[in-house]
Amino acid sequence: MPLWHKRSRKQNLAPVNNSSIHIGSDALPALAQLLQRPGTTHVAVLADTNTARLCYPRLQPLLPDNHLLIEISAGEEHKTLSTCERVWAELTEHRFDRHSVLVCLGGGVVTDLGGFCAALYKRGIRCAVVPTTLLAQVDAGIGGKTGVDFQGFKNHLGVFQLPEAVCIEPEFLTTLDPRELRAGYAEVVKHWLIADADAFMQGRNYGLFVDDWAAVVRESVAVKQEIVAQDPLERGPRKLLNFGHTVGHALESYLLGQAGRAILHGEAIAAGMVCEAWLSVQKGLLTESELDKIETFLFSVYDKVQFVTLETEAIAELARQDKKNQGDTINCTLLEAIGRGVYDQPVTVAELADSLRYYHRL
Ligand code: GLY
Repeated sequence: MPLWHKRSRKQNLAPVNNSSIHIGSDALPALAQLLQRPGTTHVAVLADTNTARLCYPRLQPLLPDNHLLIEISAGEEHKTLSTCERVWAELTEHRFDRHSVLVCLGGGVVTDLGGFCAALYKRGIRCAVVPTTLLAQVDAGIGGKTGVDFQGFKNHLGVFQLPEAVCIEPEFLTTLDPRELRAGYAEVVKHWLIADADAFMQGRNYGLFVDDWAAVVRESVAVKQEIVAQDPLERGPRKLLNFGHTVGHALESYLLGQAGRAILHGEAIAAGMVCEAWLSVQKGLLTESELDKIETFLFSVYDKVQFVTLETEAIAELARQDKKNQGDTINCTLLEAIGRGVYDQPVTVAELADSLRYYHRL
């Protein structure tokens, strides 16, 4: 079955392997049920300073009285091994065992780092994910990729480990500032571009003015789930989900290392999608008019990311560390049409730098 077939808005979401996914008003009650399962010894909630304040109060009445709240600092710069050490120390101090559950309440940093902590602590304890940002609800929280950044490289250390459950309450999106919401939207657009041309054409009309986020989340999760179900360990089709990420991660890593210039992941991915759509045209895969539609839409939602021409080589060079590469070949996901991604497309560092120069000139 092609990955880009149209799916109905009401489609029921089948679990990917052992992860059950709940979206909407039954999501938090489903979490409560999971935590009440006989044999559960301890429950901890991992939150960052934002979600501890804005989202934890909504969860608290559903949790066992003796649960532990572990709070970490918000922000990508804290997605490190030393933050994991703090989490592991807390779990150890409170005698968490393999029958304990870690609930990751937050955006991509919390769900990636928390999933990693749960997977490694005592070789794996139970984990449930409650993604609170749009980015985490449609992408980071789904599919069991966990990890932390290392030596300036994004998600350089990590494991695939599906959580027991993903509980998505779209109402948490009301806690986001508009910049966060917009950044997360880039992953929704990515799903359209790799797998759903009709949704892209409709989405072009409403842009960020979405009145039913639950429906958008549901559809986007369905795209990701279908791809992950075919290839949980990213040996093949899952690489489609990396569209925009070869250039995007390089740009994000580069700016993260420059004082005061860090941008959000989704902002980098939006820029990366423009660059990689341009590369798709250079490789004879996509038409100029499709590139024009993609660019027009993305620039209607996102500001241009600022860098100077002199920096393009250094940014492109960072893509050498991309996890999809094999030896010196940089494997990129490109588009062969709007709604149809194609993975394992070799590109050179020089071509990536060209794409950044193209973006810079726009
Ligand atoms: N974020 C891409 C993936 O989960 O494969």
